Amino acid sequence: MNKIKDETWIWWKHGVIYHIYPRSFQDSDGDGIGDIRGIIRRLAYLKELGIDGIWISPMYRSPMVDFGYDVSDYREIDPVFGTMGDFRELLATAHGMGIRVILDMILNHTSSLHPWFIESASSAENPKRNWYIWKDGAAGRPPNNWNSAYGGNAWKLDEKTGQYYLHSFFEQQPDLNWRDPELPGVFFEEMKFWLDMGVDGFRLDVINLIAKDKKFRSNPLVFGIPALQRHVYTRNRKWSVTLVTRIRELLDLYDERVSIAEIYAPPPGDVKTVARYLAKGTNGVHLAFDFSLIFSSWNAHSYFRNITKWYESLPGGGWPCNVLSNHDLLRSIDRFPWHRDREAKAKVAATLLLTMKGTPFIYYGEEIGMHNGSIRRKNIRDPLGKRYWPLFSGRDKARTPMQWNPGLNGGFTGGKPWLPLNRDTVHRNVRQQEGEASSLLNHYRNVIRVRRIHSSLQSGAWIPALNGKNGILAYYRVNERERLLVILNFTGRQKILTLPEHTGGKVLSSTHRGYEEFNYFQNVKIEAFEASVWLVIE
Ligand code: NOJ
Ligand code: MG
Repeated sequence: MNKIKDETWIWWKHGVIYHIYPRSFQDSDGDGIGDIRGIIRRLAYLKELGIDGIWISPMYRSPMVDFGYDVSDYREIDPVFGTMGDFRELLATAHGMGIRVILDMILNHTSSLHPWFIESASSAENPKRNWYIWKDGAAGRPPNNWNSAYGGNAWKLDEKTGQYYLHSFFEQQPDLNWRDPELPGVFFEEMKFWLDMGVDGFRLDVINLIAKDKKFRSNPLVFGIPALQRHVYTRNRKWSVTLVTRIRELLDLYDERVSIAEIYAPPPGDVKTVARYLAKGTNGVHLAFDFSLIFSSWNAHSYFRNITKWYESLPGGGWPCNVLSNHDLLRSIDRFPWHRDREAKAKVAATLLLTMKGTPFIYYGEEIGMHNGSIRRKNIRDPLGKRYWPLFSGRDKARTPMQWNPGLNGGFTGGKPWLPLNRDTVHRNVRQQEGEASSLLNHYRNVIRVRRIHSSLQSGAWIPALNGKNGILAYYRVNERERLLVILNFTGRQKILTLPEHTGGKVLSSTHRGYEEFNYFQNVKIEAFEASVWLVIE
């Protein structure tokens, strides 16, 4: 199989990226928690799937209050995941197979057990005091009304020094003070450590929270309810875009590295805000997640509107990246309405993700249609679930172990898994789907293969053909070499399609067709939930 790799092929733009939640991917030592040696073992599977890069959620040393998003040493691998030697081996093996490795970088906060914070908290005069955000209270109350994303006021009183520190997430995750003159330089050294080792880039955790209002003004409330505030003084401040530019400059000291911004902009899918962080020339991040696919309702026209809005918001030189789910949200297949057609819908969504313009990110297990886990209260691990049960059961549902085979614990571990395997593992797993031609996994493999052969899917223009109003979303991907047509039927009904132009086509990949050729797209029957990619013959 030929992969078209001309001089303009850029791995993070034209490749396919896979998101690994390391605790849940593959355990190698029987402790029930996924680890680096487990990932190494599964690289061959990822290669076969057609993956060009992996983003791994954090593996640094951590007390694991937020499962790694609370880092106590940015230059160490947490022993639960393995050793630095294991990591170097992962990097070398992945690179040898043509797979890039992206780490998660958490700049907004550290763990409260990070030595920097321990020093900072030790006295008001400590030289690292200003590395975190410390303030006096106002008449025995917190300095202002800022809320933590994970509930309650974001300020925590430190009895010893009598001041409050800011935590935008859990209280064990104190926010760093990026306005300190010394801190950014020190932090960038931590990032250089990994870049020097050969890591290919970073996903930047909640990077839109990094800059807070200098004057610490309280956020305006929605309907006067403290829990419902508009984060105007705590998120998406202009200065966060400036900081992102400095990160970009750092990465540009190296070859072919990538930065991917995680930006939840209110309301979900506020693409204009997201687009502000994207590269104009050499400014800004290389990629920023757009969550609007995630928040689209199952309707071809709603997807069409969200996609066009996103593309139109991109600054010149900005490149989209697209995602259906991640470790904080529900599994995509369970967001599609009506149980009985979910499998078919998952194929339509996969085809969209892999053929629309932009870098696709696949969340582990999505390629076999993993469902939300049903987690009993006693099995909840996510502190958010513990805090908000039964109103919200937390994020564990989307973090259950990867379902590799029908055997013990789905082949994930020989020990006791940290979260229970989903009940459907016996009949929904990689091995079973590998053997079934029409499985979701084989659909992913086919479409990725077509994407690798056809450069128009990687970098071509996106030209809408049908806007989804009749239930079908159709678009062309075009470059100087070829023209492809993607037809996605979001409905459970057969449709008859005629395209205005006099063009024919042949099937490259389809949920419903074998090899077929048409002289003219006239009165073509499009089956319920059909997802087909055609090469247009003029
Ligand atoms: C976003 C991450 O995706 C989430 O898992 C984490 O809890 C917060 N950032 C805080 O780091
Ligand atoms: Mg393990």
